[in-house]
Amino acid sequence: MSKAEAEKKIEKLRQEIRHHDHLYYVLDKPAIADREYDKLFRELKELESQYPELITPNSPTQRVGGEPLKSFKTVTHKTPLLSLDNLMDEDELLAFDKRVREGLGVDKVEYVCELKMDGLAVSLVYKNGKFVQGSTRGDGIHGEDITINLKTIKAIPLVLKDEVDLEARGEVYLPYDHFIKLNEERQEKDEAIFANPRNAAAGSLRQLDPKVTAGRPLSIFLYYGSIEEKVKTHYEVLQYLKEQGFKTNPNTRICEGISEVQKYIKEWDEKREKLPYDIDGIVIKVNKLHDQQKLGFTARAPRWAAAYKYPPMQSETIVEDIQVQVGRTGAITPVAHLKPVHLAGVVVKRATLHNEDEIRRKGIKIKDHVKVQRAGEVIPEVVEVVKSKRTGHEKDFHMPKECPICGSKIYKPEGEAIARCINFACPAQVMGRIIHFTTREAMDMEHVGPALVAQLVEKGYVKDAADLYSLTKEDIMKLERMADKSAQNVIDSIKASLDRPFDRLIYALGIRMIGRRTAQLLADNYSNIDELAKASEADLSQIHEIGPKVAEAVAFFFKQKGNQRLIEKLREAGVRVKGQGARGKGPLTGKTFVFTGGLTNYTRPAAEELVRKLGGRASSSVSKETSYVVAGTDPGSKYDKAKKLGVEILTEGEFQSLIHKHK
Ligand code: IVH
Repeated sequence: MSKAEAEKKIEKLRQEIRHHDHLYYVLDKPAIADREYDKLFRELKELESQYPELITPNSPTQRVGGEPLKSFKTVTHKTPLLSLDNLMDEDELLAFDKRVREGLGVDKVEYVCELKMDGLAVSLVYKNGKFVQGSTRGDGIHGEDITINLKTIKAIPLVLKDEVDLEARGEVYLPYDHFIKLNEERQEKDEAIFANPRNAAAGSLRQLDPKVTAGRPLSIFLYYGSIEEKVKTHYEVLQYLKEQGFKTNPNTRICEGISEVQKYIKEWDEKREKLPYDIDGIVIKVNKLHDQQKLGFTARAPRWAAAYKYPPMQSETIVEDIQVQVGRTGAITPVAHLKPVHLAGVVVKRATLHNEDEIRRKGIKIKDHVKVQRAGEVIPEVVEVVKSKRTGHEKDFHMPKECPICGSKIYKPEGEAIARCINFACPAQVMGRIIHFTTREAMDMEHVGPALVAQLVEKGYVKDAADLYSLTKEDIMKLERMADKSAQNVIDSIKASLDRPFDRLIYALGIRMIGRRTAQLLADNYSNIDELAKASEADLSQIHEIGPKVAEAVAFFFKQKGNQRLIEKLREAGVRVKGQGARGKGPLTGKTFVFTGGLTNYTRPAAEELVRKLGGRASSSVSKETSYVVAGTDPGSKYDKAKKLGVEILTEGEFQSLIHKHK
């Protein structure tokens, strides 16, 4: 392909990918399978690595790029990001409406009601339709430049439909399902858990390393735009933002007069628990821009808008007992068994207590009166003890010394929060591992749910995940409520999982500390399961982002005889145990490259990609194992370290000829 042809193809691929990102992340209506999307993406990456000079900062491949920052730059907002006055009840709402009506000299006002997302306000600046800068609200006047992190959010278009200049503002949030998963992963890694999705979103956006942000599936709703287009109402502004490719909340509504606003507020108070994200109220805005101007601002907030706050979804109940659950890694989680209580529309009977330290920290005892909180579909949590209601009959909870399922010893390593059942063959762990293997994010066996796995394990049909592959339709039909058709579905979905991408398998194995992202990293760096299984802790630590604890967990996993047998069985069953050839054997296999300083002809990711394409490995830290350090302009401390260790140092030119020699 000539360069001109490549350029055309690249543009076409980018447009296609943007279109599918928009369908998936903005409209929530994917039109193609993940695999087809991945194919487009790979094709683009491939072409870009052949022609690094054609890479533009707004290419879909550049969402995660760049080196970690040392700190965020400060930006001054063009116009301040104001706050909103809060309305705590009906009276305050009516008083707000009265002020607005009097200010405008009318009897009835047209409002726009929006859900008040509980996330983080950001400002996005576009020039000629290209995303150029994104920042946090900060103190309203000055924010932090978090452009590289915002670029990782796929719902944020990097290129708009038209080549316009505009500033859009919105709320970045983390949907509940991802919030729960993130906390589970953090708990697994003994990291502090986030108290709520808002904190998780804030923590994720303020990461100095954009790769960390990229691993957190954040999203955004836009609620404001300073646009060139001549429009008359706020609602039209939102329509315009939507047309340009932004995600706006579909539940926004025009309300004629305050009575319709009241209806909207009531309606969403009842429905909010069903939303897949957290809201803490309703924002009411005067719709006509002309009226907004007339009302103006106070120093703190607009006079034409206000936030009606919902009370948090909390109820009070009694902890009847505290029992423990055993997870797939043997983690013992204490769970509060509650006197059933209505909480935001559902009856709650249990609440997670996370671990023993959490119980001590909150001072929870059996028979305590407690406040429980539920954020949407999130497992309810005990917020606090109502100490004033103590009678003196409350009892302390003590962690059992033995696993309630298998009776083995429970072990809590020094300095860690989580206690574990040490028996790898504990039925609770076996079941948990198999369930994990089948989940959507792992091998995605659509018709194999937890209840079915439980039956299969109890009946002795499966003892490990690999046994699923030798099940027959007849076996399945022997289970409860399994007709011909549903049994066939089970068999089909097990079969369909044979060909999942390599990173899914790595994740599915349930190695401690390995979440989806780390699994992907491992798949990028090892071309098949044998290579990965052979990797030493030192090899693994070479990979950027893989720390010593994770390296240890991976190496430990593959050393276990039971796991080696499991992998053998999976291979025999026909499960795909290699990558898609992304990093097959090549002339640079066994060679590790580290880049330092600026390159003139490549972006850092493109250069690393070239190395990987030829079978080599790109790492971010220099060690004795490093084969070459490529030093660009202003090389950093890696250069000095390479010299000290006697690692061969290449200039960019030398690197280029090395690549060309092998191409
Ligand atoms: S409008 C001048 N709309 O609430 C208009 N804000 O308490 C200011 N928020 O900092 C904001 N959802 O972070 C607006 N639909 C929405 C919102 C919203 C959430 C947040 C935003 C703002 C805070 C003000």
